[in-house]
Amino acid sequence: MLRAMRILTGLQPSGKLHVGNFFGAMEPAVRLQDEGEAFYFIADYHAMTSSRDAAALRENVRELAIDFLACGLDPERAVFFRQSAVPEVNELAWILSTVCPMSLLEKCHSYKDKIANGISPNHALFAYPALMAADILMYDSNKVPVGKDQKQHVEVTRDLAIKLNEAYGEGTVILPEPIIREDTAVVPGLDGRKMSKSYQNTLPIFGEEKPLKKLLMKITTDSTPVEEPKPTADSTILALYKLFASAGDYSAMVADHEKGGIGYGDFKKRLADAYWDYFAAMRARRAEITADPGYVDQVLAAGALRAREEAGKVLARVRSAVGLA
Ligand code: TRP
Repeated sequence: MLRAMRILTGLQPSGKLHVGNFFGAMEPAVRLQDEGEAFYFIADYHAMTSSRDAAALRENVRELAIDFLACGLDPERAVFFRQSAVPEVNELAWILSTVCPMSLLEKCHSYKDKIANGISPNHALFAYPALMAADILMYDSNKVPVGKDQKQHVEVTRDLAIKLNEAYGEGTVILPEPIIREDTAVVPGLDGRKMSKSYQNTLPIFGEEKPLKKLLMKITTDSTPVEEPKPTADSTILALYKLFASAGDYSAMVADHEKGGIGYGDFKKRLADAYWDYFAAMRARRAEITADPGYVDQVLAAGALRAREEAGKVLARVRSAVGLA
């Protein structure tokens, strides 16, 4: 049976969307909608491994849905849903966990990192990769775009798929392939380190103009005097400007750094304007979406229906293969 390539990814609802999330996850996902049938979901079950705040979870799921739609997710083309709207995924996770060696989970970096950072390990955190494998295999996904940090989890998924097929027959589940975003430059935060919520150096995408532009003025720079040429290597201003400005404007700013005579305040203003313009259309779209309170629920409900239809087919096949039906 021939069908379009199926592209699946999950995003954790973790608060305000920032420039790093946008270029790392959303923008590539939006682009991939043109290349196949996209299944994109909000990983709310996974979010529960690191938070126990019901109101925050509800709010973050809604905000992520709005943000993703504002950034260009097209619900006419992509199937967009909440992970927990498809409870079938839990049954598949259980079935997969029966072929999952403890040692496979024990060596996952993400788990080890979290423990090292003082998170007390619970069963869900440990079993996280098995649920992620179920997310992927549940929809017969072919391609899974993820950041480097999730690469190992897709490898675990492949291992589990192979084990299940070895035990119960080829074709019980479909072997997926990762698309790893090696090429996305690390987006620097305001202090020059990788932009990340845990460093508190993020630049949000949505919000009021004045405070956001003011935030950009806080970018860390060196103390080269105005009249002197400015270094262009490792410049946070330039790295961010490159993401937002046209190639011509970017080259002009590089040239102005090399020439000297222009201060960092000036470059930051240019950066702030480019940043503001870059997200203008998405801000407008976001305002439209929030003005229509039923819209997001409607999109997610339709997505869930479609996702469950697919999940039901795959689960029936797997249940029969393993002897549950
Ligand atoms: N673990 C992923 C992250 O934190 C989110 C996720 C959950 C996911 N299930 C997935 C990503 C399935 C891709 C495929 O980013």
